[in-house]
Amino acid sequence: MWTNLVPVLGAVIFFNIISNEAVVFRFKNFECKTYNQSWFVFQHCRLKAVSRDRVLLNMNGTVLHPVHNIHLHAKMFKRASGFKPWLLDSTIDVCRFVRKHYDPFIGIVFNIFKEFSNFNHTCPYVGPQVVKDFYLRPELLIVPLPTGEYMLAMQWYFDKKLQFDTNVTFVFEEDLLKRS
Ligand SMILES: *[C@@H]1O[C@H](CO)[C@@H](O)[C@H](O)[C@H]1NC(C)=O
Ligand SMILES: *[C@@H]1O[C@H](CO)[C@@H](O)[C@H](O)[C@H]1NC(C)=O
Ligand SMILES: *[C@@H]1O[C@H](CO)[C@@H](O)[C@H](O)[C@H]1NC(C)=O
Repeated sequence: MWTNLVPVLGAVIFFNIISNEAVVFRFKNFECKTYNQSWFVFQHCRLKAVSRDRVLLNMNGTVLHPVHNIHLHAKMFKRASGFKPWLLDSTIDVCRFVRKHYDPFIGIVFNIFKEFSNFNHTCPYVGPQVVKDFYLRPELLIVPLPTGEYMLAMQWYFDKKLQFDTNVTFVFEEDLLKRS
């Protein structure tokens, strides 16, 4: 699937289409769920609206024992009378990914949030995993996105066993009135 998308990524420079002020790009919902309290627990998982345009995402979870083998299954959905699978469905080896961003889709997602988190290091992972005051900035979104509501469902596997989910819903709107 990604081989089809790479030319799209290369061809479209988002800045040319929409100026930064001309969009709404904010979180709508955030849900966290652990399946194994003896390996991963959430301290908190919440959104806080600080202005009309800015919603902050905060997450704190703890890896209770060092993990050396992590996979992430990320899948995008778009709302259209219920959430329907939308374009992206990717599984990565996280320990390999943090050394080299070999997956373009997860690479975009990672670039948008990395400076708000403490995830940017190599394996193993242990202890608090924190995302602090993360908000969405359209200028980092280098792919074109149709107006709509989206969900990015992320399932995290340790040693190939599902440990927790982080599902984030966001709204993206081109503001046509402000477009010149
Ligand atoms: C749950 O976590 C423990 C580590 O605390 C691990 O040994 C076990 O395999 C995990 N179980 C599942 C079903 O993931
Ligand atoms: C995250 O939770 C851990 C464990 O409760 C705590 O020690 C740490 O201070 C928290 N960090 C943040 C940024 O909330
Ligand atoms: C962490 O981020 C910095 C800056 O983006 C990058 O240079 C470095 O290679 C990253 N380290 C890892 C382990 O991914």
